Amino acid sequence: MKRISALFMLVSALISCSDKSVQRNNGKNNAYIQKADSVLSLMTLDEKIGQTVLFTSGWDVTGPSMDENYKEYLKNGSVGAVFNAFTTKYNRELQKIAVEDTRLGIPLLFGYDVIHGHRTIFPIPLGESASWDLELMEKTARVAATEASAEGINWTFAPMVDIARDARWGRIAEGAGEDTYLGSLIAGARVKGFQGDDLSANNTILACAKHYAAYGAALAGRDYNTVDMSENELRTTYLPPFKAALDAGVATFMNAFNDLNGVPATGNEFLLRDILKGEWTFNGFVVTDYTSMNEMVAHGYAGDEKQAGEIAMNAGVDMDMQGGIYMKYLKESVGEGKVSEADLDDAVRRILEMKFRLGLFDDPYRYLDEKREKEEILNDAHLETARDAARKSMVLLKNENRVLPLSPDQKVALIGPLVKDEKNIIGNWAAAGDRNGTAVSVFEGFEERLGEGGFLYAEGCKITGGDTSGFAAAVATAGKADVVVMVVGELEGMTGEAASRTDINIPGKQKALIEAVKNTGKPVVLVLMNGRPLTLEWENNTVDAILEAWWPGTMGGHAVADVLYGDYNPSGKLTVSFPRAVGQLPLFYNHKNTGRPIDSGDPDQKYVSRYLYTPNTPLYPFGYGLSYTSFSYEVSTDKEKMTPEDTLTVTAEVTNTGDRDGEEVVQLYVHDKVASITPPVKQLKKFEKVFIKAGETKTVVFELSAEDLKFYNRELERIYEPGEFELFVAGDSDNSFTHAFELVDK
Ligand code: NOJ
Repeated sequence: MKRISALFMLVSALISCSDKSVQRNNGKNNAYIQKADSVLSLMTLDEKIGQTVLFTSGWDVTGPSMDENYKEYLKNGSVGAVFNAFTTKYNRELQKIAVEDTRLGIPLLFGYDVIHGHRTIFPIPLGESASWDLELMEKTARVAATEASAEGINWTFAPMVDIARDARWGRIAEGAGEDTYLGSLIAGARVKGFQGDDLSANNTILACAKHYAAYGAALAGRDYNTVDMSENELRTTYLPPFKAALDAGVATFMNAFNDLNGVPATGNEFLLRDILKGEWTFNGFVVTDYTSMNEMVAHGYAGDEKQAGEIAMNAGVDMDMQGGIYMKYLKESVGEGKVSEADLDDAVRRILEMKFRLGLFDDPYRYLDEKREKEEILNDAHLETARDAARKSMVLLKNENRVLPLSPDQKVALIGPLVKDEKNIIGNWAAAGDRNGTAVSVFEGFEERLGEGGFLYAEGCKITGGDTSGFAAAVATAGKADVVVMVVGELEGMTGEAASRTDINIPGKQKALIEAVKNTGKPVVLVLMNGRPLTLEWENNTVDAILEAWWPGTMGGHAVADVLYGDYNPSGKLTVSFPRAVGQLPLFYNHKNTGRPIDSGDPDQKYVSRYLYTPNTPLYPFGYGLSYTSFSYEVSTDKEKMTPEDTLTVTAEVTNTGDRDGEEVVQLYVHDKVASITPPVKQLKKFEKVFIKAGETKTVVFELSAEDLKFYNRELERIYEPGEFELFVAGDSDNSFTHAFELVDK
């Protein structure tokens, strides 16, 4: 080890770090910052700039690669972090260069998009959010961090916490849906899962709340597009999940690609300095998205890349992902006084602090343990968690005549292009997930259950394209079965980044295949694999049952079989509305009322806020999902008036009225009848997922306080206002209010 690096390690070791908590909003003088300062004081300007540079290793490039010379850069100390590099062997090689060949030996950060699992892949985040199971989501993030850290990664670019209400936008797959309250809880759970409660443990990694901010509101659902919205809407809908991530201790933030109210998020001083680092006192670091700093030139906000770098640093961006701008121009900008060295120091201090928190200065190879790599990757416990997560994420959208669950005596035909699929099933952004044989297909899931030859199979057609030559065989196969299970959906690449669609139907000839098979007269069960809400009105009117399986991950095939055969009673509830038609988008349950709401059942009612030929309502609403059993609700409240000091107790007696044990997501929605800012028609305020045995009743108690009734007023103060409210408790968002109460001044 170099003399100088040994020296500052000694200096820094003398400063004790008893605070291992990930919650860093505890003032600027924590021991880690003192350590970071001890290193900072040894650094040249070039070395400081090097810490702000993040390059891809070239393994997994999602955009234009800046340079192939990253190993040279490492040697020069011009790079402080690398992404898309993993495996202990490879990352050790890179870390060794940073630690042994540079003057100060500052260890590298290794970042990667560990979005829904690393090698063991869980359902896509949108799917997993449908479990409404915060413990589960914390657990899958924990497993993802365990595997990723066992392969040398110490920083994930997750969770993605963008609220998204437009199913055209491919990235809706990566988040937790349309609701801010639920999305905020999920953001916190995922951060806790990735970071654990001690970042210096070798199985915890830095999390990154992205994409800051309002990326999910991209105009027309087109990726990277402009966002223009009031600050009230920004604070009400889009910022809370970021704040929740911060409150859970998230170490880093990533800029969004979009501009917001005329200013690209990457150069947005208001977002970064005023809100994030000012109002919220965030002490972690901010990284750009992939070349988003450079893109300020295309936005027409910076004249050239050098200026883009100055705008970004002045706005509060600490690290440049792949843009190479800080590397190329920051020295000159500091020399010219366009960027202050104090701001650069602040950025470097934040980055170094995280390296200290991870324990990298104590042992730069702590995430590079070959033994752990062998033990952790795809181990049985992780696979079991993946199976459980996949089952819990699935949403039963339709089940006419109780065609599901299947009975073992029925002859089943599996038909469709996704039956044997092991590639798409793990979904988009599947990190280091294997697409060539590791994932369990639906075919394999059925084979394990029913034995080889225990069911019939035909592919029918491909996911896309116009080939119908397999239809005849599919129809013949269906004709021999008692029930047909069709596994259809999107290509995984139809969602995720740069995958917006203007048509969100099931693609290719799959619909025609469904029609041909249905014409045999056999009961048809659709299993959908997709990454966004689809328009399913025709399917809903045509087939007997629909199970939304999303992209269920490595154990997807087993999980589908578990649910179809009733070993697991489906409990998932949509976290995003499914539209009837793409023209309804953006669509979400907690919209405002307008001055001309639809107020009659007349489908031709004129001069109200509606479409001519399509209802306003979604096909499947937020919070919706069926079970193989049914639930009834008896709801009561303990008072009709409450003061700001009171709590209103809302009690729901939920009875499982069917003949199977099952879980229900009990949801409480509130409507503020009159407020100084037009209120949403309803808002989710509380929920609880409960397991209820057949025939039994469980009591779910919610306590509502004035805090729960707060909103941002015109002055952007978060306040409650006295007045009348109404509420209901039910199994989905599409219900009528049953109880009223009044918030009164003392
Ligand atoms: C671009 C994506 O927007 C972002 O989410 C991701 O983390 C980076 N590329 C790095 O792959």
